Amino acid sequence: MMLSFADSCSHSGQNKPSEAILFLNAFPLNQSMWDDQVAEFATTHRVVTFDWPGFGKSPTINDETSGRGMIPYAMAALRLLDHLSIDRAHICGLSMGGYGALALWSIAPQRIRSLILCDTRATSDNSDVRDGRLAMAAGVRRDGIASLADTMIPRLLGDSTISDSGSALKIVERIRKMISSCNPEGVARAQIAMAERSDSSDLLTSIGHDTGFNDAIRSLIIVGNEDKLTPPSEMTLLARAIPGSGFMIIEGAGHLPNIEKPLAFNRVMREFLESI
Ligand code: MLT
Repeated sequence: MMLSFADSCSHSGQNKPSEAILFLNAFPLNQSMWDDQVAEFATTHRVVTFDWPGFGKSPTINDETSGRGMIPYAMAALRLLDHLSIDRAHICGLSMGGYGALALWSIAPQRIRSLILCDTRATSDNSDVRDGRLAMAAGVRRDGIASLADTMIPRLLGDSTISDSGSALKIVERIRKMISSCNPEGVARAQIAMAERSDSSDLLTSIGHDTGFNDAIRSLIIVGNEDKLTPPSEMTLLARAIPGSGFMIIEGAGHLPNIEKPLAFNRVMREFLESI
């Protein structure tokens, strides 16, 4: 399966950047959620974005043999790195993108140069959350995605963003457009995959330690202070569980700090990359 992707570099010097960043998108969005980060980091890095299978322009996964939960999604990201001949990349994943990043760490840690985990979690879901996901999967298969944006937007954005008369309309429209580009079957399969994903908590110490199977890498945890889905209290626990990880809170942002507060997000991400 070939994913829809973009491989960007706007560096003007003679020597092309040797370091690559791979961005993994949130549910139910697409790679354009990273537009502000592509503009910023393509000046210094090779920047790769792609649509998860079934989102944006990527086809849905139809290979039932490549595993359960987030593993087929991580495999798709891995195949993209292979296709682009990228040996190792900084991986930045937000929410579902973070689940995918941890799944990638579980199968191919040697391909990861550093990890930036935003507004996400390592734990799996309790039965209520799982039931909600299966209900949404059944709902979009039955009714399509017409009402998905109205359901998701208030959950995704922080109150400061929603009440900012200057920028709310533009951000809401941008998110609405991304959600409406999703394929209902892709949304359903992603919800089922997230419901089935395994708990990654036991992996977290290996990120900051040499284990023999993997080298220790640097990591950064980022969260919007108004995130209702993965609040800072939960992200603090994630940061504490990864030895040596950085922890940055983006003020005035909800679950999508890279969209809601792109300048602050880009600043902390750049400081982190420059510190490696
Ligand atoms: C996301 O933003 O990717 C979703 O909130 C992930 C989830 O439903 O757990």
